Amino acid sequence: MGRMDGRAAVITGASGGIGWATAKRYVAEGAAVIAADIDDERGAEMVADIGGAVTHVHCDVTDPVQVRAVVDRCVSDHGRIDVIFNNAATSTGGYVADLDLDGFDASLSVMLKGPLHGMQAALPHMVEQGSGSIISTSSVYGLAASAANAPYCTAKAGLINLTRTVAIEYGRKGVRANCICPGVVETPMFEQVLGIGLITREQVSNMAALGRTIRPEEIADLALFLGSDESSAITGQAVVIDGGLLNEINLTGVPPLS
Ligand SMILES: NC(=O)c1ccc[n+]([C@@H]2O[C@H](COP(=O)([O-])OP(=O)(O)OC[C@H]3O[C@@H](n4cnc5c(N)ncnc54)[C@H](O)[C@@H]3O)[C@@H](O)[C@H]2O)c1
Repeated sequence: MGRMDGRAAVITGASGGIGWATAKRYVAEGAAVIAADIDDERGAEMVADIGGAVTHVHCDVTDPVQVRAVVDRCVSDHGRIDVIFNNAATSTGGYVADLDLDGFDASLSVMLKGPLHGMQAALPHMVEQGSGSIISTSSVYGLAASAANAPYCTAKAGLINLTRTVAIEYGRKGVRANCICPGVVETPMFEQVLGIGLITREQVSNMAALGRTIRPEEIADLALFLGSDESSAITGQAVVIDGGLLNEINLTGVPPLS
């Protein structure tokens, strides 16, 4: 018996590291998954890898019509939508005075308005069902910031308070909403960061209490928990999963035990 038997989920950014791992976990636990992404090539690879109850659908989360079509497809194919996992992301960078405004808008369109589109499409169905779990991938960058990263940090922080708002508004309708706030996860996105050449995997690993980065499957475990009834009393939360990255302010220089 699976932990998601009879459940149906929409996952955006499902051609990427975290979305793919979560789709795989959900299907293994008995869910039917509609996997939405703009990357159809990796979407096909993901379907071949997972097999069974996963369907890739081309969907740009910046377009509310496309997002609604994906959610409606989930309901028409499976009779319900139990989880929407708003997970797609892409971002531009730059110091604030030099930020390209079109790039800023584009980043917020994917990472803040994208999840809003998912919420707006899923909520009427979830309210009608009297149940549902909305999960959105924020970041440790929703709770802290770094230089030359304002679009990402702004979107991820906004997403946390959007989530809290939804949790308040729809809790009595049986709908929960939570954010996952990962630290550094071994996905194509992290490979891109490493590719810039300003920081190494070893340096990043050493910033976390666990002394390592995170596997996408570990995020999928949390997404499974938040999407299942096991988290039935948890809503409005920004759940940090960072290996202890945000724990430390080392003002003494004393090193951890190695
Ligand atoms: N990897 C990390 O270290 C890390 C840390 C914190 C938060 N996150 C967050 O985790 C989530 C998943 O990221 P990942 O690490 O798996 O990255 P990834 O690059 O592997 O996956 C992101 C996916 O989003 C898709 N996407 C981009 N724009 C889209 C759009 N407009 N419509 C639909 N799909 C679109 C991409 O095609 C890609 O498949 C993101 O929200 C990211 O911000 C990642």
